[in-house]
Amino acid sequence: MKVDVIVLAAGQGTRMRSNMPKVLHPLAGQSMLQHVINAARKLPAAQLHIVIGHGADQVRERVQGDDIQWVEQLEQLGTGHAVQQALPGLRDDSISLVLYGDIPLIRAETLQSLLAAVEDNSMGLLTAHFNDPSGYGRIVRDGNGKVSAIVEQKDANAEQLLINEVNTGFMAVPTRYMQQWLPELSNANAQAEYYLTDIIGMAAQQSVAIATCGPDFEQEVLGVNSRQQLIALERWHQNQCAQSFLAEGVAIMDPARFDLRGELTAGIDVTIDVNVVLEGQVTLGDKVTIGPNCVIQNAMIGDNVEIKANTVIEDAIIGDDCVVGPFARLRPGTKLLAQAKVGNFVETKNTVLGQGSKINHLSYVGDAQVGSGCNIGAGTITCNYDGANKFKTELGDDVFIGSNSTLVAPLTVANEGFVGAGSTVTRKVENKQLAVARARQKNIDGWQRPRKNK
Ligand code: UD1
Ligand code: CA
Repeated sequence: MKVDVIVLAAGQGTRMRSNMPKVLHPLAGQSMLQHVINAARKLPAAQLHIVIGHGADQVRERVQGDDIQWVEQLEQLGTGHAVQQALPGLRDDSISLVLYGDIPLIRAETLQSLLAAVEDNSMGLLTAHFNDPSGYGRIVRDGNGKVSAIVEQKDANAEQLLINEVNTGFMAVPTRYMQQWLPELSNANAQAEYYLTDIIGMAAQQSVAIATCGPDFEQEVLGVNSRQQLIALERWHQNQCAQSFLAEGVAIMDPARFDLRGELTAGIDVTIDVNVVLEGQVTLGDKVTIGPNCVIQNAMIGDNVEIKANTVIEDAIIGDDCVVGPFARLRPGTKLLAQAKVGNFVETKNTVLGQGSKINHLSYVGDAQVGSGCNIGAGTITCNYDGANKFKTELGDDVFIGSNSTLVAPLTVANEGFVGAGSTVTRKVENKQLAVARARQKNIDGWQRPRKNK
């Protein structure tokens, strides 16, 4: 079975009140259109045709894939017109599956069941029963319960308006029927649009069977026209994610205060406290604890790691048994080997911290290679940047850096090197050397304090 997926994404989305094309607005960290594409890509042998119009350039730029055929609809003359623009790129012997760039949470499983309804002489239509069907096209059935037409709200009579089975818009149709029917559409209706939905009447007339099925979740077929609707779907989706991680054994302290904007892989006995935002690819080992208010983006975190409150981590690798935070910031290229500790108000960047090494307080360590068993005292700064270039700081094993030291890179402190507190170190410190680079203390007897001028 070949499937040509046609995604309608040409509309403007005025009610978002945004300069960004509607389908690019993010849900769980990915654009709505990307969600739809992800679902389509799960279907075997599917080819993607995306119909764009408003903000076409932005959409093409932001959403990429060699498997995408872009189709431009220069004027938005209706859903039928939109699908028609894609016709030249479709394969004669495929099934056309119509999706929507602003209905982001459709699941591949639901699309599979819609496709399963298609045979040589039948098509599939996804319908739903809504208590409040207003705005939607109504599904009209004949005396035998067969679908005979879809009537748009604006064209419906009083009796049809009472129908609460609605058209979700999703349909699967043998492409050869699309080729036959779409050119026959007329725009003689209340909105002067070429309605895709009018092909249903044509199918019924030609005795092409219309098989209907429904989504497992109503949210799968809810479209987004406003930010309120987008955020409602976001919260539903996040809650679904949280519930499924809870079911897998991840202790998410409050599903309403959990946000996954990417993919999470979690081991056993993981605890995630409130207001944690996870972005990109995040992997957590066994017995990991994430404190409240942490933001973690693209990180691999080993077993038995404790990330304390208010920590921000980006593009970092954290080994087993590490403790990070509270209030730590691990920037890209940070790698902590096992049992390392990074404490409060410490910023690291492009730095490897060896096994068991500690930076416990108030430091900036960037472009550094730190051996094992080191202790970097409070207030240590690596001066890695001279205003033009970046330089490396290398510390061997068991190095001790006294508090409030300034390490001017490029700099090496060899194994067991020791830097006295308050030093500004500019030259290599050899094995087991003590480096003290600060003014010697002077004590002056009988010191007269300054007095206030009269
Ligand atoms: C459409 C259906 C309606 C259904 C509803 C479900 C038609 C005629 N009506 O109505 O039966 O209940 O969806 O959500 O199909 N688009 C284009 N190009 C166009 C027109 C639309 O790409 O020329 C895109 C829009 O960006 C939008 C989608 O198609 O994402 C739906 O278009 P819209 O005009 O909003 O259809 P509805 O009035 O919602
Ligand atoms: Ca419309």
